Amino acid sequence: MSNVQKYGVFGDPIHHSLSPVMHNAAFSNLGIPAVYEAFLVKPGDLEHAVLKAKDDGFRGLNITIPHKESVLKFDFISPDPFSKMVGAANTLRFLPTGIEAFNTDAMGALLALESENCSTDGKNILVIGAGGASRSISFLFGQRQNPLKIINRTAEKAEKLAAEISGKTGNNVSAGGFSNLLDDVEWADIIIQTTELGMGKYESVSVFDQTESVDSDENLRNNLLKKYLTPNTVVFDIVYNPKETKFLKEARTAGAKTINGTMMLVYQGALAFELWTGQKPDVSVMKDAVLKALD
Ligand code: ATR
Repeated sequence: MSNVQKYGVFGDPIHHSLSPVMHNAAFSNLGIPAVYEAFLVKPGDLEHAVLKAKDDGFRGLNITIPHKESVLKFDFISPDPFSKMVGAANTLRFLPTGIEAFNTDAMGALLALESENCSTDGKNILVIGAGGASRSISFLFGQRQNPLKIINRTAEKAEKLAAEISGKTGNNVSAGGFSNLLDDVEWADIIIQTTELGMGKYESVSVFDQTESVDSDENLRNNLLKKYLTPNTVVFDIVYNPKETKFLKEARTAGAKTINGTMMLVYQGALAFELWTGQKPDVSVMKDAVLKALD
């Protein structure tokens, strides 16, 4: 039997995934004989694909859209406390005793902030969006008892998520739509943008385009935003392609400190890598592999 360790990522779509280049660079850097591949897995095929990976001797998998929540439905998978609370997992670890699930997305976001010298303790956090990506990040800061507000185009979705987090963490999480966006921005020390605005078909759209209280004229908008964003405000957009979304550019132009999603991608991967191998990968090697693939 080959001694090459097997890893991979399951998703649909999956062809754009940067996880293979990122993990293979880390394995090779540490001299670990391993191969990490991307697999297209349709929703109805997930259970079979996970069980087959187990039979084939896989040591670990990443699970991405649209499977992060459904993977926890299988009773042969044991979630760790955080992925159980969130109700979504992005990492599976195969052990002789069974299959464990983890969610490294949120901790990846936290480490990305910390790697930019942005401490989060006690800071007011504004999360924009209430979908899957927001969910794990919002749960983490809710659990850490940060003052937290979640805002979303569809306010009810943010309110539902905030109520769920409040119930499970004892934190008093607030929520709303985009109608008080500027006041929310002013309140926040750290703003985390988790929607797909700024990428793909929404590449030319920023969160500030979603409210009538912000001018559409570039100069007027910049002058206005300067009143609400300070050089101490950290604006983090979890999008990594493009490297600077319209929202991030506007925040930077108005004087805020900005961070894109590259290091969140890297750290969520590095945490999964460590769960699988027990070794800390070199995050700069993983980052270089990601940046090279994006060029
Ligand atoms: P993900 O896993 O990437 O978070 P998702 O669960 O489908 O994906 O959530 C998408 C998020 O992007 C939601 O917060 C969604 O807002 P709604 O709940 O109002 O749909 C947000 N979103 C998507 N398109 C948007 C748009 N054009 N304007 C504002 N928000 C948008």
